[in-house]
Amino acid sequence: MNSELLVSDASHFRVDYEINPYMDTAVQPDAEATLAEHRAIVAAHLAAGRTVEYLPSVPQCPDMVFTANAAVVRGGRAVLGCPPPQRKAEIPYFQEWLANRGFEVVEAPYAFSGQGDALACGDLLLTGHGQRTDERMLPVLARELDYEVVPLRTLNSRWYDLDLAVGVIDADTVAYCPQALDATSLRTLRGLGVELIEVSLEEATRFALNLISDGTTVTMAQAAPRLAAALRDRGLKVVGLGTSELAKGGGGIRCTALTLDRAPAKQR
Ligand code: ARG
Repeated sequence: MNSELLVSDASHFRVDYEINPYMDTAVQPDAEATLAEHRAIVAAHLAAGRTVEYLPSVPQCPDMVFTANAAVVRGGRAVLGCPPPQRKAEIPYFQEWLANRGFEVVEAPYAFSGQGDALACGDLLLTGHGQRTDERMLPVLARELDYEVVPLRTLNSRWYDLDLAVGVIDADTVAYCPQALDATSLRTLRGLGVELIEVSLEEATRFALNLISDGTTVTMAQAAPRLAAALRDRGLKVVGLGTSELAKGGGGIRCTALTLDRAPAKQR
């Protein structure tokens, strides 16, 4: 899992609008520091043996570095994201890139945060709804990508995307912040039969769960020593990186990569 990733770059990353509670147009990222952060993330993927594809960002799309919201992909099919109006201009670039690479591209009929709200866990798709994803997307995702969709709701806009509240470590292990999910979702998650790792509110707020795991190496924010220790205890290699500039846009490591793993997990 997460062996092939689509990234963009941070060349045009700015806080031009406020569409999540972390964004403040009065607090702009430092351009050089952001480029360095993003380069370090890409270098970590390459060092972990992951394939990294690249789509250049464009000046009119200041959030394009967060490629995770552009779509969710499984085995040659991609369901495009349908983001808030401020980010709509990004989608055609991804649509074209995916189509040119031979993906069958499906448009989302309702609001949809792409992989930000759709985390693959084996044949399950942990799917956030109620913030940036319309509940009506759940059956669409199940049908188009042949996943068993597991609906999860975060409590408020601090967790505007599920990838801030939940992190998939491998097909049998999921990390999550109990304070970020509603009671029904906690019951759902605890009933899945996967091993769960609890992450504190404090570390989750520092984007600890916005991680990328390939089942061997976990690339994550360095500001979360307790989760890092829990993962190391399980035999995983943990690479901690600084994400203070990307955090000004309300994003972290997971947000900057769209997973492309082409192999279907299940026969269609
Ligand atoms: N500023 C971006 C937005 O609000 C951040 C997106 C982060 N992506 C994610 N998958 N959580 O849309």
